[in-house]
Amino acid sequence: MTVKQRTQVGIVGAGPAGLLLSHLLDLAGVDSIVVENRSRAYCEARQRAGMLESTTVELLRAAGLGGRLDAEGLEHDGIYLQFAGERHHVNFRELTGGRWVTIYAQTEIVKDIIQARLADGAALEFEASGVSVADLDADRPMLRYTDAAGQRHEVTCEAIAGCDGFHGITRRSIPRGGLRTVTERTYPYGWLGILAQAPPSTDEVIYCRHDNGFALHSMRTPQIGRLYLQVPADEDINRWPDDRIWAELRHRLATPGWELTTGPVLEKSITSMRSFVAAPMRYRNLFLAGDAAHIVPPTGAKGLNLAVADVAALATALTRLLRDGQSDLADAYSDHCLERVWRATHLACWMTTMMHVVPGQDPFESELQLAQLRNLVTSRAAATMLAENYTGYAPLRYAPDPAALWTSVA
Ligand code: APR
Ligand code: PHB
Repeated sequence: MTVKQRTQVGIVGAGPAGLLLSHLLDLAGVDSIVVENRSRAYCEARQRAGMLESTTVELLRAAGLGGRLDAEGLEHDGIYLQFAGERHHVNFRELTGGRWVTIYAQTEIVKDIIQARLADGAALEFEASGVSVADLDADRPMLRYTDAAGQRHEVTCEAIAGCDGFHGITRRSIPRGGLRTVTERTYPYGWLGILAQAPPSTDEVIYCRHDNGFALHSMRTPQIGRLYLQVPADEDINRWPDDRIWAELRHRLATPGWELTTGPVLEKSITSMRSFVAAPMRYRNLFLAGDAAHIVPPTGAKGLNLAVADVAALATALTRLLRDGQSDLADAYSDHCLERVWRATHLACWMTTMMHVVPGQDPFESELQLAQLRNLVTSRAAATMLAENYTGYAPLRYAPDPAALWTSVA
């Protein structure tokens, strides 16, 4: 027998977007149910990004999710840009009048929100199968799934939030013609990422352009490093035993007198890189948020921050729609988010193409990259442009106050 239920917002996906949306809606008294096809343990362990804009940190604090983030997050004033064997610090705090970035892994944010939601008695359905959305042209769309115990559910919703990532089902459920544009770019390289039991050899994150390719030295805690190497898009990870990874990191990141601390590799994987934007981010009462609507390459660390910005706007719009009966913000949701998405897409694409090197690259291209990097570390105007875009845009708010929220991000 199928269990028939009702909720205000049916949320597909328990990544940072879906979880935070359900938390913000709850703060505003709007009920939701989150349906996720993976296990809780899988969602809490999946290695992803870890660099938060100060606007993201402020939103999480305001939503009551700042406890462990403030205790364990690593607050940085800026980043290092490295090229031609020189390392330069770019101080975002000074350039932006106080904005910063915080290292706090996505896995930790996911754990914090799951714990908060469960403590509030939330409906989180992990290990759901056969998840589908239907009746998108009706006033009340339907969310269907089978729970972990094998029970089939049919949930009548007032709105559905597609927070199920790039490979999810919600975007693909939009009827033909419902998405106006789908724009995409792939890059001929990927990132080989490692998590290592090795204290970071830097106080702030290093973005490094090297003739062998890009390298990034990030971290998770004072004991755990997170490092990346540019590799070909179709690279076989078996070609990268740990010794080779450390040797290449040491080579690309080298500067005079600096030492890279190495240690056991806890995890390694290769991520492909793409830009993707689907618009509009709404079809009637289905709203897309986070990776379900857009993907950026990881250079610039925008993916998680965009997901948070989307759901801050979406929680506000849905609260106004479902609690107050006003559709103005729901109607503005897609355009509002897409302005930020395209700013971030430009930043990510620009940083990616400025810092990655393809084998046999035209020397003209290399000189252009170096000229841009030199400009960033010598011109205050150029550095300020990077700092403003990297640390975030307009403040994120989830209070359903249209005047406060819907200002341009520019
Ligand atoms: N049914 C239910 N859940 C699904 C389905 C489905 N058919 N398909 C995917 N999901 C789940 C995934 O298992 C995942 O937990 O949706 C969730 C989507 O989460 P994310 O991929 O983390 O996307 P999002 O929440 O938008 O967060 C964006 O994640 O990819 C990174 O860099 C990106 O940091 C950014 C963040
Ligand atoms: C990370 O810490 O994982 C990280 C940092 C900066 C990026 C991408 C990833 O641009």
